[in-house]
Amino acid sequence: MKLVQKVMIGVGVVVVGIQLIRPSQENPPVTGDIGAPAEVATLLKRSCYDCHSNETKWPWYSQVAPVSWLVSKDVNDGRKHLNFSEWQGYEEGRKLKKFKEVAEEVDEGEMPMAIYLPLHPEAKLTDAEKKLLVDWAKRNGAPAP
Ligand code: HEC
Repeated sequence: MKLVQKVMIGVGVVVVGIQLIRPSQENPPVTGDIGAPAEVATLLKRSCYDCHSNETKWPWYSQVAPVSWLVSKDVNDGRKHLNFSEWQGYEEGRKLKKFKEVAEEVDEGEMPMAIYLPLHPEAKLTDAEKKLLVDWAKRNGAPAP
């Protein structure tokens, strides 16, 4: 066997082998959705819910290692920081803080994460959409007048 063939077989074995390491990709039950106004909810679902809710869509490539490891990590981290599906269980102070963070992250263009956009162009927010989200989050993040 030629060296090239041996290397190819080696690579094949590794590619198949790493598929055995499967991170959990589950959608736990939605226990208390944030229930945002319709036009805001549409944007959150389109641009944020894959990482910040229990309604993640797991496309086929998210099941293939090593992409699966990266995707699972972002979803786990994302949910830990902010989960719109478990929002009603947050304490009032935490809600206020999260609203402020949403306003900041969206305003600064930090969210949705840049790495997510090439495969999810529909998640990109226009300036008008950003403003809608930021205004909503600011309104809710400010103490009642
Ligand atoms: C591809 C996954 C992904 C998408 C899509 C995404 N986020 Fe995130 N988000 C993360 C991860 C991972 C973190 C935690 C690590 C970090 O801050 O970078 C995070 C952090 C945050 C934080 C900070 C929370 C904290 O506790 O510091 C806010 C606020 C946030 N995201 C809002 C949003 C909003 C709003 C959207 C939609 C417009 C969005 N994210 C879309 C993955 C994502």
